[in-house]
Amino acid sequence: QGGLGAQATELAAQGTGELISKDVTILYGSQSGNAKGLATKTGKTLEGNGFQVTVSSMSEFKPNNLKKVQNLLIIVSTHGEGDPPDNAISFHEFLHSKRAPKLEGLQFSVLALGDSSYEFFCQTGKEFDTKLEELGGTRIYPRFDCDLDYDEPAAEWLEGVISNLGNVQGGSASPVTVTAAAAQAVESPYSRTKPFKAEILDNINLNGRGSNKETRHLEISLEGSGLTFEPGDALGVYPENDPDLVDLLLSEMNWKPEEIVKVNKQGDTLPLKEALTTYFEITVLTKPLIEQAAKLSANGELQELLSADNQGKLKAYLEGRDLVDLVRDFGPWTGSAQELVSILRKMPARLYSIASSLAANPDEVHLTIGAVRYDAHGRERKGVCSILAAERLQSGDSLPIFIQQNENFKLPKNPETPIIMVGPGTGVAPFRSFMQEREEIGAEGKSWMFFGDQHFVTDFLYQTEWQKWLKDGVLTKMDVAFSRDTDKKVYVQHRMLEQSKELFEWLQDGAVVYICGDEKHMAHDVNNTLIEVIEKEGSMSREEAVEYLAVMQQEKRYQRDVY
Ligand code: 2AM
Repeated sequence: QGGLGAQATELAAQGTGELISKDVTILYGSQSGNAKGLATKTGKTLEGNGFQVTVSSMSEFKPNNLKKVQNLLIIVSTHGEGDPPDNAISFHEFLHSKRAPKLEGLQFSVLALGDSSYEFFCQTGKEFDTKLEELGGTRIYPRFDCDLDYDEPAAEWLEGVISNLGNVQGGSASPVTVTAAAAQAVESPYSRTKPFKAEILDNINLNGRGSNKETRHLEISLEGSGLTFEPGDALGVYPENDPDLVDLLLSEMNWKPEEIVKVNKQGDTLPLKEALTTYFEITVLTKPLIEQAAKLSANGELQELLSADNQGKLKAYLEGRDLVDLVRDFGPWTGSAQELVSILRKMPARLYSIASSLAANPDEVHLTIGAVRYDAHGRERKGVCSILAAERLQSGDSLPIFIQQNENFKLPKNPETPIIMVGPGTGVAPFRSFMQEREEIGAEGKSWMFFGDQHFVTDFLYQTEWQKWLKDGVLTKMDVAFSRDTDKKVYVQHRMLEQSKELFEWLQDGAVVYICGDEKHMAHDVNNTLIEVIEKEGSMSREEAVEYLAVMQQEKRYQRDVY
């Protein structure tokens, strides 16, 4: 329908000798929801400025329609080692294939999201940007590469895009304002940029005595927040740094804890110790940080490390080191405390898959958090948020939180659709939410859980709950793999393979498959096992089995929440 309007606008514009289209298509590729949230926000702002906007996930967009698009905005994050997010894969592939059309006449701009602590920072955004130009498109506005704290650069990019899209007739004259919380399901005043201070109700260790692991179960109150979520969504948490690490940094640098420092461009100030505890990231080193730090160090070795010949050395240095290492290794420092904190990144939020259902636990949200501790470079290292939960957070304390929707991990709309859940370790979290929800709504669909961890006795997370769901028929089947109880390692995928016949029958019956947990090893191996199961039981070639799974993914019958 919008097509006619677009044509009319175009003709009118042609009559005056210029070609201005009011139509803007925004395509996003999002793994954890940030790019999606920005796309929604961008769409609203453009609409407020008189544009006609279509916002779509790349996976929902028909690539053949690309030729009809005049103004294209791409908002895309980068995942893992420079990979596109799941819902950008097919569109990314299409553009890089022989089927990609010539795109002369297309105007575009790319907003790339990433994390500068990764080598392939904003890689996917860069690839789209290069490719669209190669195909004949013209940049409306240069690409912006955003680090974790993306709000300000994203707003600046949008301002630039709007002023370069041309003045649109009938557009409101209001200045560009980016409204917060566009991604919020239900109106709540709280969002990623304005988190809710939530009270901790309970915090227990799920692992038994003698386990190699410590997995915290957190119950958090949402009372008074207006925040809501669906099973599959994530909770964003802003942690505080370890006070011991902050003290170490202060003493190493001889800094005064009470010195007042400016923490951002807006001029907000905090005492130094508080700033290092709550406001800044001090546990990760990035290349941009080293570049800035080199200007504040009297030690020439830091500059040396940045030379083209030392790329590999630099990468190795960044790995597993923190700010305390940096200040120890490259002193003496000429910069002031203010100068040094000015180059730090803002503390990024951690996202955890929610482990409860609102229907079952109104006004609460539960998390399952694995404590991260390891030794590196001669010192014990601790995960910022997980160790806060494991060692310091107590009932009655508060934690700044927000809801991060995840459209890529949702129960089927039809409660009768069968589901297969694969969630070893903390990957169990969203499936506890799924089961609570399905129990609460009396869903009749079959469900099959694959769980795995090291030891049955100490590591069977939420064991009694699973057994009760099984007994009550909320859960149809459960298979467990305890990898360190026997001589030979058994993992969830081995259990899947043992039951390949029945598994394939479930797939043929339209089951949705969910995988949650470790990406690098588990999710990858489970993916291969699924292909193997389909190949074997469906009498297909490997290519056909891969295609079968790809179709499932397109139909949202194969969903992953992996990290
Ligand atoms: P492991 O620690 O004995 O290797 C949850 O962490 C469970 O996932 C553990 O039992 C762990 O086994 C297991 N795991 C480790 N690598 C895996 C892989 N590639 N595929 C499936 N499970 C794996």
